[in-house]
Order: sequence, then structure tokens, then C-alpha cells
Amino acid sequence: MKIFMDTANLDELKKSVEYGVVDGVTTNPSLIARENLGFIPLIKEITTLIPGPVSVELTAMDFKGMMEQAVEYAQIAENVVIKVPINLEGLKVVKKLSEMKIKTNVTLIFSSSQALLAAKAGASFVSPFVGRIDDISGDGMALVEDIANIYDVYSFPTEIIVASVRHPVHFIESARIGADIATIPFSTLSKLLNHPLTDAGMEKFLKDWEKVKN
Ligand code: E4P
Repeated sequence: MKIFMDTANLDELKKSVEYGVVDGVTTNPSLIARENLGFIPLIKEITTLIPGPVSVELTAMDFKGMMEQAVEYAQIAENVVIKVPINLEGLKVVKKLSEMKIKTNVTLIFSSSQALLAAKAGASFVSPFVGRIDDISGDGMALVEDIANIYDVYSFPTEIIVASVRHPVHFIESARIGADIATIPFSTLSKLLNHPLTDAGMEKFLKDWEKVKN
């Protein structure tokens, strides 16, 4: 499973790159707004830091406006992926961008029917938001499993990005289901690694080493 970082924070991205486990980045308007930096220069810097796919979200609501934004953002760098909200105008944009060989990530996916239509329109990626589904007492991971089965049956090449990941269980369930990618906040990265037995084991080794090192 590939790991994308769900952040637009440059410090977090620099640290993540050093850990050597990051394959791409997802951003959204809320994540960009937190950074207080110019939008285009920020995206440019992220695409330089991370060689993998960097999702940049459209905010226009009509086909023409979305296409203008998409073409502008796609010119920032080769690894920009255009993040398109799932709606009828969005589907038209996905189809057009796919014809233009520009990659798309269809976002705000909350149902299998949305994921199926996105794949049919030619989406490169879809992003089901598991945490937001769990927040309203739904089962986010069940949606991912359903989408994975449907894509399997029809051999859709669209990759599933498990998004709105809130904790390590979302991450490990994504891997069990065989999701292509999990996009995770920086805070989740260290949670994936932490284990009290690892800490206790290291402490004991260091204590014993103190006894013999001289
Ligand atoms: C990523 O593509 C999504 O925009 C992001 O994971 C949403 O996460 P949130 O539900 O925590 O805002």
C-alpha cells in the first residue's frame, strides 16, 4: 500500500520525506488555508519536495471554471493531480482531463455509486472519506471494501485513496482490504510506529549496555 501525506505543511512534508515512506501528497482548500502561504508557490514547493502525485483541489463550481483552474494547476508541475469534487460538472471535468492525459483524484466520495461513476468517467484516483463517515455513525471502511470489490469485478484501473484517516486502525484496515493508498495526517505517521513494548525493550537494552560498555 502506498502512503500519501494528507498535509500542505512544508515542515511536516520535509520530515516525512526523510523517513523514506512517503509516496505522494493530498491537499484540500482547508489544509492550504492553514498554511498562510501563497497557493501556487506552496504547491510548486510541495511538488519539488515530493516526486510522487500531489493532489490539488478545484474550487470552481462550473465546467468552464473548473477546466480553467485544472489547466493552470496542471502546468505547475508534472506530478500535479487535479482533485475534482464528485458532482455532474465534476464528472465532465474528469472525462475531459482524462482525454487530455491529466490525472484526476475524485474527492468527497461517500457512496459506492459515486465511486463507480467516477471510475467510468476516467478517474485516476477516488478518495472515500472514511473518518467523516464514521463521524456520523456510518462504517467508512465498509465503503472502501465495497468500492474495492466493484473495481475488481469490472477491472477498473482507478486507484483507491483511503482519505479522512483518523487513526492507525483505519490505516491497517486499508492495507487488509488491499486499498491502493492511504493518505494520512502527519500525526498518524508516528502513531503507526509507536509501541510500548518497543520503548520498554529499548530502555532495557540501553540499561544493560551501560553495565558492559566499559
Ligand atoms: C484528502 O484527500 C481529504 O481531503 C482529507 O483526508 C479529508 O480529511 P478530514 O475529513 O480529516 O478533513
